[in-house]
Amino acid sequence: MPRPHGRTFVVTGGSSGLGRAAAERLSRMRANVVAVVRREDEVREVRAAIAGATGRGTVEVVAGDLSSRTSVEEVGREIRERFPEIHGLLHCAGVRLPDRRLGPDHTEVMFAVEYLAPFLLTRCLIDPLAAGAPSRVVVVAGEEHRKGFRAPRGLDLKNLQGERQFSVLAHGKHLALARILFVQELGRRLEGTGIGVLAVAPGPTRTSLLRHYPWHLQMLERASLLVRGAQAPEEAADHLLHAATDPELAGVSGKYLLEGREVVPSPAARDPEMARKLWELTEELLGERFVGEDLPDGEPS
Ligand SMILES: NC(=O)c1ccc[n+]([C@@H]2O[C@H](COP(=O)([O-])OP(=O)(O)OC[C@H]3O[C@@H](n4cnc5c(N)ncnc54)[C@H](OP(=O)(O)O)[C@@H]3O)[C@@H](O)[C@H]2O)c1
Repeated sequence: MPRPHGRTFVVTGGSSGLGRAAAERLSRMRANVVAVVRREDEVREVRAAIAGATGRGTVEVVAGDLSSRTSVEEVGREIRERFPEIHGLLHCAGVRLPDRRLGPDHTEVMFAVEYLAPFLLTRCLIDPLAAGAPSRVVVVAGEEHRKGFRAPRGLDLKNLQGERQFSVLAHGKHLALARILFVQELGRRLEGTGIGVLAVAPGPTRTSLLRHYPWHLQMLERASLLVRGAQAPEEAADHLLHAATDPELAGVSGKYLLEGREVVPSPAARDPEMARKLWELTEELLGERFVGEDLPDGEPS
């Protein structure tokens, strides 16, 4: 993949944390940045902040609630109409909630933002990504899929939205696992299209992700971040940019990178049968298949 200069990158979660840091870094590298933020009233401030990082590339900010399917599709449509070629799509938005909450579509909010939105937005932008090939889709993931208290042993397809059992800590870890399986299956389906797909664990990072947690869990998680030597978002952004732009990763797809190195995720996160089942379940839930206009339909030959 050529240098980001003059190329177009879409980054979700552009208002804070990893997404904001990645958008600012890309802008500094003179890329054209399209940041997705949740609230309309943030658009101007976020655009000024990202552009202020250098003001060299163009910066567009699009607002949309990623917990709503209609809103994700509107965001996707707007970006697709304005940017016929996209070279990188970075899924950095995420949310941690203290209890199970349903969003506008009666879908559990964490599942909607962290899993369904990346699926839907990638689907909406698949044609500009194909037109921009070689291009990449980067999904933020984490070692939480296999480490720490309540790490999942496998994906529970009957509890993707915490409908059977919801635990504050376990749900985020379960979704991290789902995201890695999504990357594996998307990578397989996009083979030969020039669109690479990578899951990236940037390492523990000091962000505002835990702000909705009860205070005692915030203290616990902050202590854990301290012990693990958490980095600033700007440092974590290096790993995201490496995944999105480094030419050395040309041809690497469907894989998991930990702090810049390709590593093997947990056995549960490299189960091709489960990745396929998750994909099919998602298509069933959405009532639509994931097929770009000019892409193969991804069925195994
Ligand atoms: N921090 C870490 O140590 C770490 C490590 C590995 C992986 N991750 C993963 O990285 C992702 C981002 O985390 P972060 O640490 O950068 O957290 P963060 O600072 O809280 O950033 C999350 C971003 O997502 C946006 N967002 C949340 N809900 C949204 C919605 N409904 N619609 C649109 N945007 C929405 C937030 O916007 P608002 O501010 O407007 O809500 C914010 O910009 C998460 O999936 C997390 O699991 C984090």
